Amino acid sequence: MLPQISSFSEYQDAYLRSISQPEMFWEEIAQAFEWRKPWEQTLNWNFTEPKIEWFAGGKLNITENCIDRHLANRGNQTAIIWEPNNPNDEVRKITYSQLSEQVNKFSNVLQAKGVAKGDRVCIYMPMVPEAAIAMLACARIGAIHSVVFAGFSSTSLSDRINDAACKVLITADGMLRGEKKIDLKQIADDAIKISPSIETCIVFDHKNFPIQMQNGRDFDWKELMSTSSAIHEATEMDSEDPLFILYTSGSTGKPKGVLHTTAGYMIYTAYTFKNVFQYQEQEVFCCTADIGWVTGHSYIVYGPLLNGATTLMFEGIPSYPDPGRFWSLIEKHRINIFYTAPTAIRALEVFGTEPFEGKDLSSLRVLGSVGEPINEEAWHWYHENVGKGNCPIVDTWWQTETGGILISPLANITPLKPAFATLPLPGVQLAILDEKGNELHGNSIEGNLCIKFPWPGMARSLYNDHERFKSAYFSTYANYYFTGDGCKKDEDGYIRITGRVDDVINVSGHRIGTGEVEDAINEHGYIIESAVVGFPHDIKGQGIWAFVICDREHHSYEELCNEAKAHVGKVIGAFARPDRIQVVKALPKTRSGKIMRRILRKIAEGDTSNLGDTSTLIDPSVVDLIKIGAEEIR
Ligand code: WT7
Repeated sequence: MLPQISSFSEYQDAYLRSISQPEMFWEEIAQAFEWRKPWEQTLNWNFTEPKIEWFAGGKLNITENCIDRHLANRGNQTAIIWEPNNPNDEVRKITYSQLSEQVNKFSNVLQAKGVAKGDRVCIYMPMVPEAAIAMLACARIGAIHSVVFAGFSSTSLSDRINDAACKVLITADGMLRGEKKIDLKQIADDAIKISPSIETCIVFDHKNFPIQMQNGRDFDWKELMSTSSAIHEATEMDSEDPLFILYTSGSTGKPKGVLHTTAGYMIYTAYTFKNVFQYQEQEVFCCTADIGWVTGHSYIVYGPLLNGATTLMFEGIPSYPDPGRFWSLIEKHRINIFYTAPTAIRALEVFGTEPFEGKDLSSLRVLGSVGEPINEEAWHWYHENVGKGNCPIVDTWWQTETGGILISPLANITPLKPAFATLPLPGVQLAILDEKGNELHGNSIEGNLCIKFPWPGMARSLYNDHERFKSAYFSTYANYYFTGDGCKKDEDGYIRITGRVDDVINVSGHRIGTGEVEDAINEHGYIIESAVVGFPHDIKGQGIWAFVICDREHHSYEELCNEAKAHVGKVIGAFARPDRIQVVKALPKTRSGKIMRRILRKIAEGDTSNLGDTSTLIDPSVVDLIKIGAEEIR
């Protein structure tokens, strides 16, 4: 049985043990899983190469732990509840036996299409159970899944397919998000045109939209499944064999293909799911994230299934058909644990308490928050209106790279403080460093958040680019994993995340690199240079502000800005569209040609009282002009 901490003193004991004897601590947890062959070495690591291996030599398959192992006792229990975009459409419930059957069948389908262990498979799907089935089937045959969020454009999809040279693309005809129709197959077709590695495209007919199927390349999911056997022997994987790639944005360059491996990720997501949410048998767990982000991977699919839980997948959006949708969802499915993002909470806060009227939320036991810092006001609103003052909020801090939650209260165990992610989970050795790289000790400190010891769920590399893995995370401070976040530790040792300290913007919980947005804007014929920064946004957390330089007169700057915004939507995806574009004559540059983003950030924030030292700028007078322009568009 996977250990479950049941009191604060047990947490403190577990934490101390996990620090003094990390290997022994994780070995005990690893015992709770099914191994084909036990591991030989628990941990082998250094943060210089860096090299991280957990449970090396062990043989297993994660899907035997997610599915097969539950069949004897909970074959008829619901594994996945699916709530459609339109609340009047039919709910689907998939038991563990049905899930097993579907995953086995799709594993056979993939193998029949020539997919072998180590091959990459791209999944570009709506929020339907088939997305999870596709992920699990990949894991079962040892193929590496690369899920791409279905809000990404064809260019972004193709970039990700090409980086990993995926052989197969799994998609659907299309989807509806609220009333918005998205033609996924069309986008997939556009991507495949510039992604020569794709040999096969499997299309799940979700909405019966008219689509083009290319003979010999495109296949219908349901047709392939209808003749596929429901028996499939899982492929034996090594603990450190890759499980998946998931792309995420950094401050510079193209998106990074974060690579996770099998055993460590499995153990970590299972353990954190059970302990953070304090999951109890038979409970219904609902995470509103999309499966295209790591939250969906770890806490819709792997974490819950590894625990034999019932996980709810919601296809829709919080505002459709009305702003009471989440609350109807909770009532309809008697959800016990509800895990969502601050941006959704803030967006719903605007509608007041009316959407709650007549809705029974008494099933709720635990609330969760993820993706960005939750402000105190939203925290209290969530606590009072959704949790009726009775449900703890677990503010879970983590990242694509960390695989699972690293800092969070344990529900009903850790004393809470609004807007604080509170304390590190067992096994997580935090370090707070100052700009110069000195580790700060004690309480009441503030600095850059690092981690100084490996935990099983951490990323092992960036796909095909280990050098970049090293430079992005292990080079800022020698021998530390640098998260890119800043934090404060208060007088009680509680952690409050203050946000990114690099050039990554967090828009509605979506992580966007400023460089990616700049590259997209610069493709506009009239724009020769741009600088993108984040600014505080009431609902999205951060908005995107772009300063652009045009090299010739445009008949309408408003039109130009709209074109540039639309272009970013087309190149990256609608979620990355800048909120504000400001045309400027020049950008604040130093003599070495570096843009002083610090100044632009301050201007976008509307805090221009103290812009700091501008004497190193080639032309300090540009700052005043930008300030005036910013006031006009604010
Ligand atoms: C970045 C990671 C973790 C899964 C979803 C996002 C921010 C995440 C919190 C939180 C404050 C948070 C950080 C982090 N973040 N959770 N509870 N409090 N900030 O994964 O896309 O990899 O983004 O999201 O800035 O670095 P991601």
